[in-house]
Amino acid sequence: MCSESGFEKLMTILKTNFSPAFNITRLSHVVLTSKDLDKTRFFYEKGLGLEVTFQDSNFLFMRALEETSHHSLVFEKQNHAKKSKCLQIGYRVADEGELIKAYDYFFSKNCNVSYIERPFQGKTIRVEDNIGTPIEICATMDQKKSNMQNFHHHSGGKLAFLDHIQITCPDISSVYKWYNNLGFRLTEYTANDNSDELWGVWLKRKNNTQDVVFSNGVGPCLHHFAFHTPEVSNVIHAADVMASLDLAVNMDRPPGRHGIGNAFFIYFRDPDDHRVEIFTSHYNVIDSNQLPKRWNLSDTRRSQLWGFPAPKKWFYETTEFENVQPVKPKLNAPPITLEDFLSKW
Ligand SMILES: [Fe+2]
Repeated sequence: MCSESGFEKLMTILKTNFSPAFNITRLSHVVLTSKDLDKTRFFYEKGLGLEVTFQDSNFLFMRALEETSHHSLVFEKQNHAKKSKCLQIGYRVADEGELIKAYDYFFSKNCNVSYIERPFQGKTIRVEDNIGTPIEICATMDQKKSNMQNFHHHSGGKLAFLDHIQITCPDISSVYKWYNNLGFRLTEYTANDNSDELWGVWLKRKNNTQDVVFSNGVGPCLHHFAFHTPEVSNVIHAADVMASLDLAVNMDRPPGRHGIGNAFFIYFRDPDDHRVEIFTSHYNVIDSNQLPKRWNLSDTRRSQLWGFPAPKKWFYETTEFENVQPVKPKLNAPPITLEDFLSKW
């Protein structure tokens, strides 16, 4: 019950905007760089079970089993000498009328918004959020038949759909306000034990707990992107498949269950060190009067209900966005890491 009493006291929790200027429906796709598209393809196709929908010498497009859109994960080939980057976070709006409304909204706010060409997508606009995260928004993509019931195609982690991203951010309150204006709804959050200061916000447009998470840290940087799989056994099977492909060393955080969102998870790092989460068992948030759930910063159950804390690298190693200089956070809140835990054992 701490979440409800916490909600009443915490004045920084904003009223959800149920009538935003335009209708974002969900997180759509993530665009990243790859130094070796064939290595990247092997990791995601053979290891995790994504379907390759297009590849040439410069691009790799993939989708998961339940997805009918052409792609949810895109890689652009980049020079070996350059640091791996995240290029775009993609969101979807309900239709092209909403896309025009989105363009008009950002133009009216003096944001640098423009139409761009993207393969396999309908009209697409590009803009940045208030902390510099590069965003592209489209209404449509080329459609393909779902592989949900093509069970003979299910392999690796049997990934169903791209669910959410997590971005480290130097100022949680301001980014929460920006996304709240766009209709993103707070479902869970972490705050300092005895103050209103926010450490992290779980924000959603679709029916479940999150499309985007902002957590306190040097940023904006992409911490991870996450694919949903329908079974706990699939999360474990992903680890077995990775091991049999000699990719067990790519495991970044062993399986466990987050308190926040109830997710049963495992994390891997791909060949370019981008972090991907495979998870299951979060829940729906639909009713308008359901209150967001509060977690105190000192409560380690928010990160793991059971199991060991995450290693230090999980907290501090992230993917930078192209041409965006990360900034140190205002809130100094060092995490309890696996290394801290083991040193006291
Ligand atoms: Fe996640």
